[in-house]
Amino acid sequence: MKTLLTGGAGYIGSHTAVAMIEAGHDVVVVDNYYNSSPEAIRRVEEITGKKIALYEADAADAEVMRKILHDEKPDCIIHFAGLKAVGESVAKPVEYYRNNIDTTLTLLECMREEGVTNFVFSSSATVYGEDNVPPFTEEMPKGVCTNPYGWTKWMQEQILRDATVANDELSVVLLRYFNPVGAHESGKIGEDPQGIPNNLMPYISQVAVGRRDHLTVFGDDYDTPDGTCRRDYIHVMDLAEGHVKAAEYAVSHKGTEVFNLGTGNPYSVLDMVNAFSKACGHQVKYEIGPRRAGDVQDSWANADKAKAVLGWEAQRGIDEICRDAWNWQSHNPQGYDK
Ligand code: NAD
Ligand code: WQD
Repeated sequence: MKTLLTGGAGYIGSHTAVAMIEAGHDVVVVDNYYNSSPEAIRRVEEITGKKIALYEADAADAEVMRKILHDEKPDCIIHFAGLKAVGESVAKPVEYYRNNIDTTLTLLECMREEGVTNFVFSSSATVYGEDNVPPFTEEMPKGVCTNPYGWTKWMQEQILRDATVANDELSVVLLRYFNPVGAHESGKIGEDPQGIPNNLMPYISQVAVGRRDHLTVFGDDYDTPDGTCRRDYIHVMDLAEGHVKAAEYAVSHKGTEVFNLGTGNPYSVLDMVNAFSKACGHQVKYEIGPRRAGDVQDSWANADKAKAVLGWEAQRGIDEICRDAWNWQSHNPQGYDK
């Protein structure tokens, strides 16, 4: 199978490229490097020993995407490309709606013209909103999102569903990721956020490696065993392997199907600090701060459907997550290109 990965040079895309190639599939990558570097793909090639067809292009550019689909004739598209910073989306909603929704609309139009019928989409557990109670199941109604980023995922899911209703030939798999973390076991690829990290694990990693003084834990007065929020942290290689199964499913089915990609196991902020401290061999310094606006107390998956239908379940736990995140961070203290 030939799979085209939009946003394939990014964090999840680059790990998925490795998993796809290791499963025997061909990979084509399209990325505009808005939040990534071609160095990530060079390293994917180093890990896999395979040359990757790489296009520097905007996935919302219909003319360019039409030509790429025409020339490459992929069996399936996995659409990672998008803007993903929750706080930034509040400040720049128009840019978020424009980029995230335009890319999906453009791809759907170009797919129709070029006869590509299989599509896997990077959605997010954020679409469950604030009112559903975890563990979240795919049957729960989507909730009210707390920020424009979340709404772009919510709306893209709806657009893709509507497109499959109108076209019997179309197959769409919506993947709702929980909290992707960790890095490839080689330490050659990993998460490389620009500026101050918004997310917990890259922040902890940068404290551990000495780039930042301490982590601020956002609130310890939640109704949880240690007072900090709980999340479903999933190793990015488990997530990547879930995409292999999802793409294989997409090419052999029609219509829309939605899957949670999570472990089903919640861990608190302090659980992650402690696991990381163990992995890196010293205590990660932290202070307790106020709650962060918009945080939900608890979020974790019911991961049964992916296991039953795709035959996929996460294999790696928080010790492997922290070991691999530390391996990446300690070998690449400033990320790619530095
Ligand atoms: P990332 O920023 O590392 O990767 C996204 C990639 O898309 C980047 O390489 C970026 O340069 C590229 N891109 C953005 N707009 C583009 C465009 N118009 N044309 C071409 N390339 C473009 O992010 P990630 O963490 O790998 O996330 C991948 C996808 O998964 C995103 O859609 C994100 O919203 C979604 N997601 C991520 C998380 C998470 O916590 N990382 C959770 C749920 C969902
Ligand atoms: C995890 C926990 C924080 C940083 C976000 C998006 C979601 C999805 C994944 C894309 C929370 C706490 C964090 C820090 C902390 N992305 N924390 N100190 O908020 O669960 O999800 O990323 O789809 O849509 O909302 O992830 O890693 O930011 O936070 O205490 O410096 O860590 O309060 O409890 P979150 P996160």
